[in-house]
Amino acid sequence: DIEGQIDALLAEMTLEEKVGQLTQYSSFWDATGPAPQGGEQEEKFEQVREGRVGSMLNVVGRDEVRAVQELAVEDSRLGIPLIFGYDVVHGHKTIFPIPLAESASWDIDLIEQSARIAAVEAAAQGLNWTFAPMVDISRDPRWGRVMEGAGEDPYLGARIAVARVKGFQGDDLSADDTIAATIKHLAGYGFAEGGRDYNTADFGTVTLHNVILPPFKAAVEEADVRTAMNSFNILNGVPATGDAYLQRDLLKEAWGFDGFIVSDWASGREMIDHGFAAGPRDAAELAIEAGSDMDMESYIYRDHLAGLVESGAVDMAIVDDAVRRVLRVKHELGLFKDPYRYVDDPDQEDILMSPDHRAVALDVAKNSIVLLKNKASLLPLKGGEKVALIGALAADKDTPLGNWRAAGETGTAVSVVEGFEAAGVSFTYREGAAVEVGEAGFPQPVVVNTTDRSGFDAAVAAARKADKVVLVLGEDGLQSGEGRSRSDIGLPGVQQELLEAVHAANPETVLVVMSGRPLILDWADANVPAIVQAWHLGHESGHAITSVLTGDHNPGGKLPMSFPRSVGQIPVYYNYMMTGRPGPLENEVFWSHYNDLPNTPLYAFGHGLSYTGFNYSGLEITQGGRSVTVSVTLENTGDVAGTEVAQLYLRDPVASVVRPVRELKGFEKVMLEPGESTLVTFELTDAELGFYDPYGNFKVENGDFEVYVGGSSAADLGGSFTWSSN
Ligand code: IFM
Repeated sequence: DIEGQIDALLAEMTLEEKVGQLTQYSSFWDATGPAPQGGEQEEKFEQVREGRVGSMLNVVGRDEVRAVQELAVEDSRLGIPLIFGYDVVHGHKTIFPIPLAESASWDIDLIEQSARIAAVEAAAQGLNWTFAPMVDISRDPRWGRVMEGAGEDPYLGARIAVARVKGFQGDDLSADDTIAATIKHLAGYGFAEGGRDYNTADFGTVTLHNVILPPFKAAVEEADVRTAMNSFNILNGVPATGDAYLQRDLLKEAWGFDGFIVSDWASGREMIDHGFAAGPRDAAELAIEAGSDMDMESYIYRDHLAGLVESGAVDMAIVDDAVRRVLRVKHELGLFKDPYRYVDDPDQEDILMSPDHRAVALDVAKNSIVLLKNKASLLPLKGGEKVALIGALAADKDTPLGNWRAAGETGTAVSVVEGFEAAGVSFTYREGAAVEVGEAGFPQPVVVNTTDRSGFDAAVAAARKADKVVLVLGEDGLQSGEGRSRSDIGLPGVQQELLEAVHAANPETVLVVMSGRPLILDWADANVPAIVQAWHLGHESGHAITSVLTGDHNPGGKLPMSFPRSVGQIPVYYNYMMTGRPGPLENEVFWSHYNDLPNTPLYAFGHGLSYTGFNYSGLEITQGGRSVTVSVTLENTGDVAGTEVAQLYLRDPVASVVRPVRELKGFEKVMLEPGESTLVTFELTDAELGFYDPYGNFKVENGDFEVYVGGSSAADLGGSFTWSSN
């Protein structure tokens, strides 16, 4: 029994060894090569030998992991194995679409499969722990890390969080191809003010419980996630790493989470910069008391925790509990049985980038693409048309890998140019606006399209000669992600000018947008007939985009995040609260609105077109026992097969706490042949009808409810019912 073994080990451990289990170091050098002499790394590895380190991050590869594991297992007094963590976020070697893109598939099985493959590949390279999924809800596309989450909605976010955790952890954590997952960042990181990374988050407890926490809670209760990461930001004046309410009261006590919490990188020490801790010793005390179990690269536990216990400031029981949690997860991973289980099998690495993995990556990529606009059925391209393919990103083999690309190798994605070639599309290619290297930063230079217009003339000439133009523009793969906040989220550099010039030369222009976030596409929407949101789709990007443009794949993706009309509208999201002056009032200014823009986003949450049409009709509501059943008939009215994500939104018009105008409470992805129809059924129970009050109590109140079903959050086929719990 695991707990008995942990008791026995705890009894043998010195205080320093216990603190060691709570210390995590990063490595940035090749552990199989000679250790840098006298440097910080050498010191770190010496401490591994002394049993003063519990985990490493950024050690990747079977030989590298084995070399460091040997230091812990062979050289340290108790031989406690290390746990090796890494940011495996959207694939490990085979890179899948960025999480925001995958979320646009609304395909829970595919998302789980993607995480499963990422885990299999990561485990094959010696890893046993990923710092994913990021489950932060965000309403601000200026924040570069929206690329890493599931968008703005807590219901969709919770379903995706559960799928990703299940994919990483599989059915049996002790299998050698499953890894521990991390839900992060607890909590509120996605609400950084102004979308500026690491900035203050400030929102009320109704938002905390109803919007921010549901994906965390679902991952604990439905998928038994084994680790959590706290966060850089403050919330209610308390840095998340020092927040006992979030970590102890909610996660560990109320939700029964028995895994461990890791800090974010140096977030413990950063409590000093926040002005919350007087110094590193104080920071260590605050963090451990609040329930932050393992310290990532702050050195505050290493330097101060033993002293805090010896002086009586921190109770040994608190340290023991944290160590127990870390040892528990190591046991569950099977590391005590065989510390080398992830690095033993020489054939394991054969599965990296296997054709099977690439095939799933292609499937996910196709399903992640969202057709935003398609006036007069400009798309799909018809065979025999002369196509001009324009834009530096069309030939870019790196951008589609996106940020947080784990062990994905630079410049190895299939470009759109290659996708066209492989599909036999005849085309001419012009770069248009060159890609130049701009601001430098970790992990690689940020590439931006700056001021080079030298390719414009050739691009315009090619556009004139073509029947149709496919213009691939957007953000470079590293322009979104951590530390990549932007105040202007239009097309970077001179790409907007290129778009206007090319469109003037040939209005039959299809805009393909690659980005890690919603961009401002107001001009394009008003002028360009067809717009395809192609995100950063991973290794199979070019094949997937080509299959959508040619009609080989009928797009069915739906937006997981609203696209604003302008930066000034942010935050704009579908599940907002009604104000006391909702309007609209004619010839009046005193209602909640902008004088220069509609309140609605450019493209709503849930929006996404298809090459066929769908019709929703016959909404019926039946009530029985403690549930309500809502059904609609969904028909494919066009002449090609297609998939549609039928979405159900609920509104509680009067409640003891003001409720959003509508909230997603169910969805189903359906494939229909031309002319085919089907009955789609949704079930609403207490879980969907209730909400959290400002004190975190879950309530289900009697009264009237409205439901809306359709293909986006603007769905207007509605009905109502009265709920009574008696
Ligand atoms: O996992 C990440 C986290 O999301 C941001 N800071 C660094 C960690 C480890 O790389």
